[in-house]
Amino acid sequence: MAMINDTMTTALNDQVRREFQAAQNYLAMATHLDGKSLESLAAFFYRQADEEREHAMKLVQYLLDVGRSPSIPAIECPQADFCGAKEIVEASLAQEQSVTQAIHELVDEALTAKDHSTYQFLLWFVDEQVEEEATFGKLLDIIEMSENVLQVEHYVRHMNTAEAAEGEGGE
Ligand SMILES: [Fe+2]
Ligand SMILES: [Fe+2]
Repeated sequence: MAMINDTMTTALNDQVRREFQAAQNYLAMATHLDGKSLESLAAFFYRQADEEREHAMKLVQYLLDVGRSPSIPAIECPQADFCGAKEIVEASLAQEQSVTQAIHELVDEALTAKDHSTYQFLLWFVDEQVEEEATFGKLLDIIEMSENVLQVEHYVRHMNTAEAAEGEGGE
């Protein structure tokens, strides 16, 4: 069994917390949008919340696999009120950028510890963050180009359909 040191274990558990926090933040954004009848944007954010929970569980499972204890964290109350879709997407992009930073620091830690198992495990997250930042960056561009939020809804509806079709195809 791979030896994961205490520092790395703590750092991975910090990431578990960040992923659950991101899940709750996206859930709050989704319900806010749902309350404004922006159903496609809401669906997109509900899916983001589910994905972040999956990320957290991926880390939890890894810790179990290497014989270390995952800790399931308390989560801070997410922001519940927003000025509009633009503020939500800007906050999301900022959140993804800070998660990317945290993942890169975990990779640095794994390299320092010569922890090849954790290094290899983390590469999936490195790729995932490139995708996440690209998705939110694109969504922000669309919002800036749109004349109103209904155009954004229209765009996101297509994004959701494409994503669902991809999901059915199986990854
Ligand atoms: Fe994530
Ligand atoms: Fe994310």
